[in-house]
Amino acid sequence: MGFAENFVWGAATSSYQIEGGVNGIGKGPHIWDVYTKEPDKVYGGHTGDIACDHYHRFREDVRLMKEIGLNAYRFSVDWSRILPEGTGKVNEEGIQFYNNLIDALLENGIEPYITLYHWELPYELYKKGGWLNRDIAGWFGEYARLAAERFSDRVTHFFTLNEPQCFIGLGFLTGVQAPGLKCPLRDTFEMAHNVLRAHGRAVQVLRACAKQPLTIGYAPTGGIIYPASERPEDIEAARQKYFSMPEDDSNWTWNVAWWSDPVLLGHYPEEGLIRYAKYLPKITDEDMRLISEPIDVYGQNIYNGRAFRMGADGKPEELLRGPGHAKTAVNWPVTPECLYWGPKFLYERYRKPIYITENGMACHDTLSLDGKVHDPNRIDFLARYLRELKRAAEEIDVRGYFQWSLMDNFEWEKGYAERFGIVYVDFATQERILKDSAYWYGNVIRTNGSEL
Ligand code: FCB
Repeated sequence: MGFAENFVWGAATSSYQIEGGVNGIGKGPHIWDVYTKEPDKVYGGHTGDIACDHYHRFREDVRLMKEIGLNAYRFSVDWSRILPEGTGKVNEEGIQFYNNLIDALLENGIEPYITLYHWELPYELYKKGGWLNRDIAGWFGEYARLAAERFSDRVTHFFTLNEPQCFIGLGFLTGVQAPGLKCPLRDTFEMAHNVLRAHGRAVQVLRACAKQPLTIGYAPTGGIIYPASERPEDIEAARQKYFSMPEDDSNWTWNVAWWSDPVLLGHYPEEGLIRYAKYLPKITDEDMRLISEPIDVYGQNIYNGRAFRMGADGKPEELLRGPGHAKTAVNWPVTPECLYWGPKFLYERYRKPIYITENGMACHDTLSLDGKVHDPNRIDFLARYLRELKRAAEEIDVRGYFQWSLMDNFEWEKGYAERFGIVYVDFATQERILKDSAYWYGNVIRTNGSEL
């Protein structure tokens, strides 16, 4: 028992958070390139212009992955690096960068997992209405076709979208991330529908243009709800709450079912169709067929959750965390149970093999006098979470786990203030140092989690 023998142990990053290399190499701007130049949007005025300079240092980074012992690496392609205007003209230098990265990974025995969209909407497409324009399904399809044509001879694992909950919710509803808009609810539902159509179109195109059979997935997120106890009624309360719509419409994107039921069950959740009726665009059967184009695996980014039990009134009620509950440097609660209950509930509902496409912790990491970076809190966090995942993997089909993140990087509106890596980055010198957690994780990989 424990993790399957071929369980995939990886780490994840995304293009804007690590690449840098924004100027002079044929890349077009995307919404984050533009947003980070506006005053007071990002902590400290930080930008991703240089980030971890991975664009120039990827060979060293692949060596570090090898040193840790990763089986797999999940990275994203910057749409505007290979299609500077989002469609049309191809930037061969951008293609070459990803080809070199893929080759370096394979030479080192590390399986590449590509995410097509980790939040970099090409600015030219944003100007044409971006996610609000129905044509974006076609634009994203064109991009997916290029990715299939150029990369699928060597890459067989693709995820379409990372966390639509966040890039629509934070980008267009609360406005704390690029492009920083507070749109009417109606617009955000229309965008969400186009996001899902774009996903479906990408699946079709990847499948049709691939050079070999692919494993195609989707990588959304959503706060996990787990039961406060293992009493059947508490488990039922948690399940109900987990797949229901958020209490507050102004935070509606933060849920799992609206974004996953259409893809995996072929319809939007009934509760939402009723509750949001006045905001919804026209939804056709043809749209739903496109959105539910079959995928092979279901990815999920999981960081924390909330505990619920069945209340005396027969409705789910939250068990609030007690004073002093453990939290991470970004104030996210430490709730390891979510890595058992999340995959379990998702598998029971959607019946798809699961990958944990992100999980990890921000800590206040510093370089110690002994020249090392000691991060016992991260090791403890990962151990607790992975124990729960192990329990899940004994009951359901969990294929792999990607730790977020391989290295410290540009954490969106928080700039470089937060460190999520198992590799420390000195942003002044670009020196990389493996943290204690990287060595610890290497041992987990070598022993396939048997010592957890
Ligand atoms: C996720 C994002 C990822 C990173 C982590 C900490 O929501 O997908 O890019 O910011 O959180």
